[in-house]
Amino acid sequence: MGFTIAIDGPAAAGKGTISRAVSDHFGFAHLDTGLLYRVVGARMLDGEDPVQAALALDVADLGRDDLRTAEVAQAASKVAVIADVRAALVDFQRAFARRSGGAVVDGRDIGTVICPEAEVKLYVTASAEVRATRRFHELTGKGSVITLAEVLEDVRARDDRDMNRTEAPLRPADDAVEIDTSSLSIKEAVAVAIAAVEARRQG
Ligand code: DC
Repeated sequence: MGFTIAIDGPAAAGKGTISRAVSDHFGFAHLDTGLLYRVVGARMLDGEDPVQAALALDVADLGRDDLRTAEVAQAASKVAVIADVRAALVDFQRAFARRSGGAVVDGRDIGTVICPEAEVKLYVTASAEVRATRRFHELTGKGSVITLAEVLEDVRARDDRDMNRTEAPLRPADDAVEIDTSSLSIKEAVAVAIAAVEARRQG
């Protein structure tokens, strides 16, 4: 039997860390759907048509090592407004979400569009300043030359595009549990998320 945990939220709110910890804790598989949009964004930067790139998406592309750059993140957010790109990626995400053994699927529209029937929905958020500071440390730690102001501008531009697009905009599902990680440590945020899943599993 499938059991789906949908985790949505804006960039750098801690979704990735929480998703990995929750999937490890319950022994579920994990899909970071942002990577699908990042692959399409990267292929658009290579000169490909984004819709064709989405239709031809190959799991092997998920291993490209440029997917975490700020440039690819912006490209991903741009291709993500295209309805045909989103449509091309739906079946893969739904099949993954319903696999036997349970799945944690994280993104922007998992609880609202991809898996509205998910057993548990979490909406992980934090202030734009906190998210930009975390992303700044992550990027500079990997050697990127970037200022905090630039990262904050990037975060705000992506929030604006992700929340205000017509197709599957980022918003919490009506029945999502909201977790604001602004003043939580990673350990605390993970504990809150696991407790929310446990409550739903037993309920
Ligand atoms: O989670 P991320 O930062 O890797 O996502 C990159 C971009 O992809 C994000 O700015 C918007 C888009 N995205 C989306 O529209 N829907 C998803 N389910 C996941 C990501």
